[in-house]
Amino acid sequence: MTISPPVQYDFSLRHHNTFGVEARAHAYAEVTSTAVLASIRNDHMLSALPRLVLGGGSNIVLTRDFPGLVMHMDMKGIDVVAENDDFTLVRAAAGENWHQFVLWTLDHALGGLENLSLIPGSVGAAPIQNIGAYGVEAKDYVHALRAYDFGTGAITTLNNADCRFGYRDSIFKQGLQGRGIVLDVTFALPKRWQANVGYEDVARKLEENGVSAPCARDISEAVIAIRTAKLPDPAIIGNAGSFFKNPIVTTQQRDALCSAFPRLVSYRQSESEYKLAAGWLIDQCGWKGRTHGSVGVYEKQALVLVNLGGATGADIVHLANTIQADVLDRFGVQLESEPVYV
Ligand code: EPU
Repeated sequence: MTISPPVQYDFSLRHHNTFGVEARAHAYAEVTSTAVLASIRNDHMLSALPRLVLGGGSNIVLTRDFPGLVMHMDMKGIDVVAENDDFTLVRAAAGENWHQFVLWTLDHALGGLENLSLIPGSVGAAPIQNIGAYGVEAKDYVHALRAYDFGTGAITTLNNADCRFGYRDSIFKQGLQGRGIVLDVTFALPKRWQANVGYEDVARKLEENGVSAPCARDISEAVIAIRTAKLPDPAIIGNAGSFFKNPIVTTQQRDALCSAFPRLVSYRQSESEYKLAAGWLIDQCGWKGRTHGSVGVYEKQALVLVNLGGATGADIVHLANTIQADVLDRFGVQLESEPVYV
């Protein structure tokens, strides 16, 4: 059956980006099925436009109006698709809200994703930037995903290795950028679940809660409490979570920085590499809680930039550039932004 694409023109994206920036899309479509994608691909006018795929809009900075077609992924559905002695495979459609999906797994006594509770955004966006928090990354549980190739119109299945996951990185930010549209993601959740409480903040919160042998739900509740205390709710203060990635430097570079700044926060990645806490670097430059017109740095976490009301994407990028220049000047470290500038 062929359908006509459900397109709206001159559409405000204000409620489709967690920074709450006003920008307009030339054309906009709610994608509720693969048939909608096919109809867009078959439409000569629409398929010729530049494309932007949006999930929850929690990882973008809209720097101007978008002159093409915005496709908002709105496919729904969560199902257990297979089970063996070791794993339960759960498939979730791209348009499901990430946190609601995590809660669904916990309601069905399936552990694994609890450390990733309360991360804003959608299921379809989770593998693209390989979301991560409190010692867990999406890649640890992604079994496979299905993607629509806008170039060929084919649906392909990518397994975990095909996704080429890295720290806040995947093939969707590399070769498949703009082409592969995630339709659904299948997670392998272990039957023999083990708590992941290696992250100091989580261990401390569980202790505070008087929990010594935590279940997945306890960890989820601890993570929700930590995130609520440290990170602004995008429904109240516009933001995109961590604005910068934690930079990876050589051991040599880290040792030199440690001599100059003994309180430097760093995590060993391998023999030759360390990850630095970007929040600490920015904080040391005095940025925490500082404002710059309509944008600012969140008072409880220097890694988060916030829209104080009426900010434009350009305001956000300007503040980010200023912070990057400061950190480079003081520490010789180049910070890389995590959200995508559109
Ligand atoms: N720190 C400061 N000042 C700050 C912020 C942090 O000194 O303003 C120090 C903290 O004291 C701590 C260290 O930096 O010693 C790390 O801070 P935190 O544990 O808050 O984590 P993070 O490295 O700032 C990362 C992720 C978060 C994730 C947390 C918990 C990145 C870019 N960010 O933040 O992810 O929730 O770890 O795992 O990797 C996101 O990606 O949007 C996000 C929120």
